[in-house]
Amino acid sequence: MNKKIIIVLILLVVIALVTGGYFFFNYFGNSNEENNNSFTNNQNVDESNNAISDEDDDLVNTNSVVIYFSATGNTERIANMIGNVTLSEVIEIVPKDEYTSEDLSYTDDNCRANREQNDDNARPEIANTIDNIDSYDVIYLGFPIWWGNVPKIILTFLDTYDLSGKTIIPFCTSGSSGISASVDTLRNYNSSMTVLDGRRFSSTVSEDEISSWVNSLFDDNVR
Ligand SMILES: Cc1cc2nc3c(=O)[nH]c(=O)nc-3n(C[C@H](O)[C@H](O)[C@H](O)COP(=O)(O)O)c2cc1C
Repeated sequence: MNKKIIIVLILLVVIALVTGGYFFFNYFGNSNEENNNSFTNNQNVDESNNAISDEDDDLVNTNSVVIYFSATGNTERIANMIGNVTLSEVIEIVPKDEYTSEDLSYTDDNCRANREQNDDNARPEIANTIDNIDSYDVIYLGFPIWWGNVPKIILTFLDTYDLSGKTIIPFCTSGSSGISASVDTLRNYNSSMTVLDGRRFSSTVSEDEISSWVNSLFDDNVR
């Protein structure tokens, strides 16, 4: 009799443990899955993990665009990284007449790029149109430094679109020259744009450095 009671009690305990375990697993298993899903949905993650985290939703949700001119690819690489980090569309300013290596041979006073830079009225034509520029408030504007300043095609870009009231965040690549003269040019050219101090990058800058720079813009509340 005692043995039977003990066996029944053991069976009851086993059943209780199995049932309890089943509910415990189901409850916590599902809720973890839900948490994981919402985590993934809320995070703006890219493959390199440099995209902005959910703490910086403002950044992701701002309507920014990256617009750049690049003759030999250095500025283009950085433009793409900024696009990646800010999850912004990246648009190239394409010259109607592409610059050949002869055009860029700046040791020749008479090369096309030098002639343009020396001519106040030079406004090299742009081949493409940017249709939706009105929908952006913030423009990351990229270019190479040519003779210490913006290539003249950047002025063609400013002539083409009404950028009044927009925030321009300039960035550039160069052999060594800084960006400040270009920033002055942009500010003087259209005083109704807000032009931030911007940043010069070497052509080998990493995406991590780009990411910290973008984040610093937000830390400084400049945007
Ligand atoms: C016509 C011309 C003028 C340049 N002038 C300067 C300059 O004044 N200072 C400088 O540091 N680099 C100068 N550079 C070097 C470029 O700024 C640098 O190579 C840049 O990364 C090129 O960018 P991209 O590949 O996007 O065209 C000049 C290059 C060219 C073609």
